[in-house]
Amino acid sequence: MTSECSPRFLASDNTSGMCPEAMEMLLKANHEDDLAYGNDRWTALAADRFREMFDYDCEVFFVFNGTAANSLALSAMGRSYHSVICHELAHIETDECGGPEFFSNGAKLLTSPGANGKLTPEGIEALVTKRSDIHYPKPKVISLTQATEVGTVYSREELLAIRAMADKYDLRLHMDGARFANACVGLNASPAELTWQVGIDALCFSGTKNGLAFGEAILFFNRDLAEDFAYRCKQAGQLASKMRFIAAPWLGLLDNDVWWHNAAHANAMARYLADGLADLPGASLMFPVEANGVFVELPLNAIEALKAKGWTFYTFIGAGGARFVCSWNTSTALLDQLLHDIRAALDA
Ligand SMILES: Cc1ncc(COP(=O)(O)O)c(C=O)c1O
Repeated sequence: MTSECSPRFLASDNTSGMCPEAMEMLLKANHEDDLAYGNDRWTALAADRFREMFDYDCEVFFVFNGTAANSLALSAMGRSYHSVICHELAHIETDECGGPEFFSNGAKLLTSPGANGKLTPEGIEALVTKRSDIHYPKPKVISLTQATEVGTVYSREELLAIRAMADKYDLRLHMDGARFANACVGLNASPAELTWQVGIDALCFSGTKNGLAFGEAILFFNRDLAEDFAYRCKQAGQLASKMRFIAAPWLGLLDNDVWWHNAAHANAMARYLADGLADLPGASLMFPVEANGVFVELPLNAIEALKAKGWTFYTFIGAGGARFVCSWNTSTALLDQLLHDIRAALDA
C-alpha cells in the first residue's frame, strides 16, 4: 500500500491547480506591459492558435468561466422567445443558476431524458413537435455536452444524426465543451472532426478543467452568430481588462498539444480507477467510462465512510451514486489509496 495521500480531492477537475506550461506562459505575459481589453498580442496569438487547431477561421472570445461561456453563447444563438433543447442532466439546466435564461432575456430550456446522459434525435424531435402554437417557446437551439455530464461521449455518428435532426427543424447546435479535450482523446478524434465538420455552430471550450487557473474560449464556427458578441461579453462583465492573463496561459495548453496530453492523462487515470473498481464486489459502474469521470454505485454506508476519511466527490446522480473526476495531475498513488479505502468500506 502506498503512503497516505492528501488532499483527497476527486470531486471535479477544477480542484487541480494550473499545469506548468500554462503557468510558464502566465509568467511570460507578465514580463512586459501590453494593451488592455483583448487588444494585446497574447489574445491575438491564442485566437490564431485556436483557428489553426480547429483548421477553421472561427470567431474566438475568452471569458472567465463556463457558466458565462454557455449563457452568453446561447444568448447569441436565439431570441428571448426561443427555447434551447438540452439533456435533463445538462449543466446549463442543473448548475448555472438560470444563467442561460437570464442572459437570453427569458429563452426557456426544454429538457429531454436519454441514456448515458445523451440527447437522441428522437428525444429532440419529440420536444420540437410537441407543440407548434404561439404559446410554446419556439425551439431554436440544441445544446450538447461533450463529454457528457456522466462521463460518456457522443460519437461522430451520433453528432451527425443530431445535426440531421437540427437541419430538419432549422435548429442551431451549441456544444458545452467543459470536457471537450477529454472527448477528443476518448474518441481519438481531432477538434475539427467533433465540431464544425459535424455541424456544431458554437463551442464553449474549457481551459479551467484542462489545466488553467480560469478561462474558457467560445468559438463560433457559424460566424454570423458572433455579430456584436464582444458587446455581450462586456455587458455581462466578462471582458477582462487584462485579457492577456486569460489568453497567454491558453497558449501553454495549445502549444505542443499540451491540452491533449493533459486530457489523455486524466482519461487514463479514470480508466485506471474504473479497472480497479471492476475488481471490487459491491461497487458497480453506472456509466461507460469514456472520458475522465467515473460514476460508481456504492452502498450508502460506504459513501459515508469515504467522506469521513476526507475524500471529496459528488453524489448528485442519485442515492448511492458517487462521481470521481480525474485531472491532468491525478496520480495513481491517489487512486490506489481511494481503491484501498473503497475496498475497506465495502468489507466493513
Ligand atoms: C458540463 C459542465 N459545463 C460547464 C461547466 C462550467 O462551470 P463553471 O461556471 O463552474 O466554470 C462545468 C463545471 O463543472 C461542467 O461540468
